[in-house]
Amino acid sequence: MTFQLYINGQFEDGAATFDSINPATGQVWAKMPEARTDQVNRAVDAADQALQKPEWAGLTASQRGKLLYKLADLVEQAALRLAEIETSDTGKIIRETSSQIAYVAEYYRYYAGIADKLEGSFIPVDKQDMQVWLVREPVGVVAAIVPWNSQLFLSAVKVGPALAAGCTVVLKASEEGPGPLLEFARLVHEAGFPAGVVNVITGFGPECGAVLSSHAKVAHVAFTGGPDTARHIVRNSADNLANVSLELGGKSPFVVFADADLQSAVNAQVAAIFAASGQSCVAGSRLLVEESIKDQFVQKLVERVQSIHIGLPSEMATEYGPLCTLRQREKIEQVVASSIEQGAKLLTGGKALDREGYYYAPTILDCSDASQADSIKTELFGPVLSVDTFQTEQEAVFKANNTPYSLAAGIFTNNLTRAHRMTKAIKSGIVWLNTYRAVSPLAPFGGHGLSGYGREGGFSAVLDYTITKTVWLRTSDEPIEDPFVMR
Ligand code: NAI
Ligand code: MG
Repeated sequence: MTFQLYINGQFEDGAATFDSINPATGQVWAKMPEARTDQVNRAVDAADQALQKPEWAGLTASQRGKLLYKLADLVEQAALRLAEIETSDTGKIIRETSSQIAYVAEYYRYYAGIADKLEGSFIPVDKQDMQVWLVREPVGVVAAIVPWNSQLFLSAVKVGPALAAGCTVVLKASEEGPGPLLEFARLVHEAGFPAGVVNVITGFGPECGAVLSSHAKVAHVAFTGGPDTARHIVRNSADNLANVSLELGGKSPFVVFADADLQSAVNAQVAAIFAASGQSCVAGSRLLVEESIKDQFVQKLVERVQSIHIGLPSEMATEYGPLCTLRQREKIEQVVASSIEQGAKLLTGGKALDREGYYYAPTILDCSDASQADSIKTELFGPVLSVDTFQTEQEAVFKANNTPYSLAAGIFTNNLTRAHRMTKAIKSGIVWLNTYRAVSPLAPFGGHGLSGYGREGGFSAVLDYTITKTVWLRTSDEPIEDPFVMR
């Protein structure tokens, strides 16, 4: 397959190409176009010009909404094709990519519906002869920078609200599997967005990503990725003073009380850490289980994990595929080894699988006697669950909150009052009670601390892509008197 960049309404080759590897085989499966500085600059210029041209700026909000509805339909129709590309490019199982991308259409629909509901307001100021109102305007050019996992989803929560608000976008796909977003550009084109409104590029972080996020014409950087990259972006924003929103990783706790429905908790814990082979920002990577049920719970969990169907990501029956990159697998191998040296006990997995591709076995480490183990502290972005125990609710809260990240938390209990107390005490942007890894376009998503700042999803996300303009109208026909006094 061939992939191109999409700049100013045209498809073009990159300044160079790079190999994209299929993680299920470890072999190159496609050539990807690399945008270097010049193409990044052209993409931003195109977005900046499109912002001012009547083809986009002159549309009514309802017309913008209609374009987004059209895009949603096209995404829905192309879901399987996009999913196949994503699966080849990132190793993510087709079972998830196909359903996730079909659901991405709902995100575009949700923001399509919001486009013409961004009302201004009237301010009853304390001056007789003045009328004041607020209008909402697009913030400007948006740089949307995403990682390789769930990229259609992670870009929809940026591109959807940005376009609904009337902004223009330069979307940068990750160098680890940019195929699906480059293909998505074809749908943008087909939907009929004017040239330059959405540009889709890819390339490497230090050049393509850095030039884009620090560009003087970029007004908002919407970033999802790792904390180190986030720090670069925040530093760069000291130059262009762009707004920045950051969706970073996590080390999310999954807390199971003895009164919980254990079968349901087992399945949710499997979803939390082994779905997408653990490569999920909201991965519930720290199991905190009440001591009295630890043995029973962990045994059920290990049994379930050992029956996970591992296979080729392209097969619908497969539940668990490879990691996206070899580098990622090496990092996991190191941390698992050091955690075992620090006293963690291996309950299952703990090794690369003996087959081609970047597979790593679903792994559970008992860290109840090794609370300082690396696996408890490090975001691995992979299929490694660290188990610890607690005896009281206070201890559960203390351990759950003992992390610099604050993205998500799962709590399993059938005790209503405890559920409320825990929800209040837990430090995280999302709390899932008796469930895990559920999302909706209507529900805001994001964290704080090392998990970043800003919220995506939900109505409020659109407001982040707008700026208010305060308009003053003097209604008096009398001449303005004293020019030296503030009115
Ligand atoms: P990464 O931070 O290495 O890359 C993300 C994107 O940033 C890529 O497009 C990359 O090219 C770009 N980039 C790299 N250096 C840059 C620079 N100096 N300036 C501008 N852009 C640059 O992230 P990775 O490792 O590919 O993805 C995994 C990370 O993403 C994990 O830490 C994970 O937790 C996080 N993540 C967060 C999610 C959330 O919603 N909170 C969802 C999914 C992943
Ligand atoms: Mg790849």
